[in-house]
Amino acid sequence: MADNIALIGFMGVGKSAVGQELAELLDMRYVDLDEEVERRSGRTVADIIGNDGEDAFRKEEHDALMAMKGVRGHIISCGGGIVLRDDNIRLLRRIAMVVLLTARPEELIKRIETDGGRPLLEGTGDPLARSEQMITERMPRYRRTAHHIVDTSGLDPGQVAARIIDIVGVSP
Ligand code: S3P
Repeated sequence: MADNIALIGFMGVGKSAVGQELAELLDMRYVDLDEEVERRSGRTVADIIGNDGEDAFRKEEHDALMAMKGVRGHIISCGGGIVLRDDNIRLLRRIAMVVLLTARPEELIKRIETDGGRPLLEGTGDPLARSEQMITERMPRYRRTAHHIVDTSGLDPGQVAARIIDIVGVSP
């Protein structure tokens, strides 16, 4: 098995919940890259994007990922835009078995509305249409990054985690 498992996919697909479940089941360490950005910078993601812009956030996100080089036994939950940089794609594939989580946009939007805190969707008149557009734009990159794809539609985080364990072939 790879040293680490990375979860990628659009906002609201359940990377954090599934990642925590997986870490528990496999006795691995859970790390959320957005939280790493916040810990390292002492600022929230919303503050960085809102005040310094998306590019500044992407740089912080890249640095947080670079800091994962050499770690082992981690479940790495990535922000939805991690695949926007080619160097992130290469690095992720090198350090982890990468699993793409997908779901229908309507399902994602429901979860995003419940969780809140998605600065890139705030202020857009129609978050569903904006999400659909972003997913379409990003999908080739998500697919290029992923070693495996899991459709989470209708599954709870525990069921998704069990499916990933089947796929990556490790026994809890
Ligand atoms: C982003 C997703 C967010 C966070 C930032 C940007 C994106 O993470 O990194 O708001 O570009 O899709 P989640 O996917 O964990 O919500």
